[in-house]
Amino acid sequence: MKSKIIVAPSMLSADFSKLGEEIRAVEKAGAKWLHVDVMDGHFVPNLTVGPVVVKWLRPLTKMVFDVHLMITNPEKYWKSFADAGADHITIHYESAGNIPALICKIKAAGLKAGISIKPKTPVSKILPLLPKLDLVLVMTVEPGFGGQKFMADMMPKVKALREVIDRRKLKCRLEVDGGINVETTPIVVRAGADVLVAGNSIFSAKNPVKAVKAILATAHSAERNGI
Ligand code: DX5
Ligand code: ZN
Repeated sequence: MKSKIIVAPSMLSADFSKLGEEIRAVEKAGAKWLHVDVMDGHFVPNLTVGPVVVKWLRPLTKMVFDVHLMITNPEKYWKSFADAGADHITIHYESAGNIPALICKIKAAGLKAGISIKPKTPVSKILPLLPKLDLVLVMTVEPGFGGQKFMADMMPKVKALREVIDRRKLKCRLEVDGGINVETTPIVVRAGADVLVAGNSIFSAKNPVKAVKAILATAHSAERNGI
């Protein structure tokens, strides 16, 4: 059986003085997506990167650029990330503006569109939007920082989404983000996640290549062994 599980290293925890090298290493290790965390110091109490970083990284890798906008006004900035080379734009349900309209615009521009929900936001809020989405991102920590503790109590949300996606035969990826490592991987895979974002457990490891391979191997065996 060919696995559909994807590991998406979050560059938030990478060494920014050698981003190119770090990214090439995780790509070689088998990571298919690169998760880019964008924070505005307003939606979350932290600041990260803008479109210019995406632009410079784009020629260095074939990985899919999975851009996670943790910003209050995604309407104002998403296009700059698209122009810089993003493949996916994920916006937060809790951010400002007309979220369904923005999803349509992102898709009309030829990108894949996703919605992320913070830990306190119930799945019911995004169910009507699911048929339009290419991915749903369930936060398994409060957004804002890498290296936080995984919230196992988010698993009912992941299970509920998996059930709806499968029952309605939707083409929607189910991504989890926050506190993913070899211990938590089996938990999220069994709950139904098929994209695993991992920052700290990969880039703060002594050997990020081994860390990617270990998460992938753990995910595949959890997938094989079923529920
Ligand atoms: C948190 C970010 C995550 C973060 C995950 O707000 O959205 O992508 O980088 O980092 P870890 O894997 O360290 O929890
Ligand atoms: Zn993220």
